[in-house]
Amino acid sequence: MSGELSRLEDVVDKIKHGLLPQWVFASQDVYQLEMERIFSKSWHFLGHESEIPNKGDFVTRWIVNDPVLLLRDMQGEIRAFLNSCTHRGTMLCVEDCGNRQSFTCPYHGWTFNTNGELVGIVAGNKVYGSEMDRREWALRPIPQIQSIHGMIFGCLDPNAPNLEVYLGGLKWYLDIMAGRTDNGLEVRGVPHRWIVNTNWKVSADNFGGDPYHTAMTHHSTVELGISPRDPMFASYGHQVVLENGHGINIITAAPGLKMPPYQGLPKVLWPEFERNLTAEQLKVFSETVVMVGTCFPNLSWVSPMHGTGGPNEPLTNFVNFRVWRPLNPCQIEVWSWFMIDKDAPEDFKEASYRSYIASFGPAGTLEQDDTEIWTRVVDASRGFMAFDKDIQFNNVLNYLMGLDRVQPVNDWPGPGVAYPTCYLDAISRAFYTHWAEMLLEDAIVKAPIRA
Ligand code: FES
Ligand code: FE
Repeated sequence: MSGELSRLEDVVDKIKHGLLPQWVFASQDVYQLEMERIFSKSWHFLGHESEIPNKGDFVTRWIVNDPVLLLRDMQGEIRAFLNSCTHRGTMLCVEDCGNRQSFTCPYHGWTFNTNGELVGIVAGNKVYGSEMDRREWALRPIPQIQSIHGMIFGCLDPNAPNLEVYLGGLKWYLDIMAGRTDNGLEVRGVPHRWIVNTNWKVSADNFGGDPYHTAMTHHSTVELGISPRDPMFASYGHQVVLENGHGINIITAAPGLKMPPYQGLPKVLWPEFERNLTAEQLKVFSETVVMVGTCFPNLSWVSPMHGTGGPNEPLTNFVNFRVWRPLNPCQIEVWSWFMIDKDAPEDFKEASYRSYIASFGPAGTLEQDDTEIWTRVVDASRGFMAFDKDIQFNNVLNYLMGLDRVQPVNDWPGPGVAYPTCYLDAISRAFYTHWAEMLLEDAIVKAPIRA
């Protein structure tokens, strides 16, 4: 272990006390360890079943550095393979999406069917003889895939606990976002992708545990009349700490501010909510204005009510899931899916899409606010003082908000430890504690948390 890594135990101790050493954002050694001990063991969001509705439909995705061919085979089953030919390893399919009954490698022409079987070899028996067993050269499947509410996840560790265990209490909140209507969500368009010069933890932590930044970073929304002037406006509601590093903020309206129930979603959907959710989920959902959070390590979501910019524009809800794919310690590729209830009226779907594009699409106002700030965090974390090997400088960052000051409530109807404010660093502290423990190989999938 290099000098930086031997300091990880110190990180575990510090983060419990609300302090995070700044070097964790830009360290190449830490990044390498994250690849080996976190990303190779975690469940990763690959896509939604609505992206591959027909037999032969495929999309190409990544689990960090592993290219994935995600498809619906000719029997209708969803499968995921390493997108790499078994002959010399070239990437088999370079298209973003499409429909095929087979995939022919551009290098020497080996052909694989949608079951991953090697079904065609150029010059076949003439060059390999009839004794070569083609079954041994099938595409390599992603060790585990599993769907929940149409959301397909993959895991590179064949021995990892299943998706339900991994998600734990987060499933209860995913029910509200993705499982509330009879036919669930659908992805519209293709996921947007763009590159940001930041560390994956900066964005995951921002969505997971940082509603506090909203009033300042996104002050333009206040000026446009989309957000209230009260700087506490994103604090109302509950921050919920879940097991395995996950967390969600359920933000409600400021006292005295009248907001429509169910995030303003069309009334025609309400009977479906009542059919698909429990009384406890309905109560939480009916009062919600924004849901924002992170599934450890790098899947986040935001489901706010937003407009397209004008002061008199109605606020329209959308669901946006996004993966922060690490490219190196100081760079990520953002993958962003716009989703909407399949059963919503078409005009609402259009308004919802416009709301997403204006706010959290790649050129959205809030997205640009965040991107600029996240870049600056890493820009300021690469230097000698931030790494501070000799502890000459006070190089720890402040994650103290609410520590020992804010206590959990005991009447929260859902899973997790819920605190009565969203201006709180409880999720961030839990995120970084889990992160550091996984790097130290101490992490186990823990029993569900209840307040
Ligand atoms: Fe694919 Fe040779 S690398 S056929
Ligand atoms: Fe933001």
